[in-house]
Amino acid sequence: MGDFIQVTASAPGKVILFGEHAVVYGKPAIAFAVNKLAHVTITDRTDSKVHVELTRLGVGGFLDLENETIESHDNKPSKGMLKYILKALKIIKGRTEFSQSETPSQKKGMDVTVDIEMPVASGLGSSAAVTVATLAAASKYYEIDLEAEEIASLAHQVELEVQGAASPIDTALSTYGGAIYLTQNAQELVKLPLDWDLPLVIAHTKRESNTGELVGSVRCKLETYPSIINPLLDSIEQVTIEAQRALLSRDDNRLGELMNINHGLLDALGVNTPELSRMVYMARQKGALGSKITGAGGGGSIIAYCPEKMDEVLHELESKEQAFTIKLYDKGVTCKVVE
Ligand code: MEV
Repeated sequence: MGDFIQVTASAPGKVILFGEHAVVYGKPAIAFAVNKLAHVTITDRTDSKVHVELTRLGVGGFLDLENETIESHDNKPSKGMLKYILKALKIIKGRTEFSQSETPSQKKGMDVTVDIEMPVASGLGSSAAVTVATLAAASKYYEIDLEAEEIASLAHQVELEVQGAASPIDTALSTYGGAIYLTQNAQELVKLPLDWDLPLVIAHTKRESNTGELVGSVRCKLETYPSIINPLLDSIEQVTIEAQRALLSRDDNRLGELMNINHGLLDALGVNTPELSRMVYMARQKGALGSKITGAGGGGSIIAYCPEKMDEVLHELESKEQAFTIKLYDKGVTCKVVE
């Protein structure tokens, strides 16, 4: 280990514009990284413990990387974020030369401070952003060279281990930034040349959303009603294909309409809630051309596309829920070392 005083890595969250849930079944999706980041800072400790503090969430705890246990007195749902950090740190620690031969006195502890700009469990990819930033910060801290590709793949592995199911969208966007089209079948990530800032507003309910559970509930519906649910997934696929064209040709009305159709299909899949629905229609009433759930649903967030009506939509949503505008974020994960 070098003479670092402090390493900070920052990674963006994301929004899914089209194709959530269907993407789990090999359908395409459109998503982009947003200017809401997770910052993970690692500093030395004088003892051998690993302590994590999620500053804005008021959650913290000690992690035992060897036994994979978490000691935390908090019982907030956002405590779940500690699992992603634990897995990410364990992977990196496993790659250090110290991991095999350490005696207790050689074990060096660390303080990990996590600052998350977006609401958690809200469909904005906070867990992926935290995982990617943790992998980047820890690899820098231990002086291990990790290519971006490796960070994206390890972060995806962490998400799979913690939540059971996950597409590579969130972790890829937190690693690389920009906008992507995840192709159908091959599920290849293609960079989307988006050169304009979409006027987008996010609003989120206080009800947190559990991606693993929601993906499971859609799978259950698919197994129970395959002849009904399969055509819905096919329709989402067609919506996403059309939406890519509308996005690139900047066809505002079509884009909005496709978002509304996508929302209806997500509702039919059972991931809508009364709160999300209320916000979706509130946004349309104030002039949004399109509005839909973004992410897993079941709580979490909606996204509204509001050319020339951004202020109106934002103010209306803000008066009832937490709402904010977002911008496409082109940079991926970055790392800063303070010696
Ligand atoms: C969650 O943000 C989006 C889902 O499609 C799950 C995934 O893609 O991993 C519901």
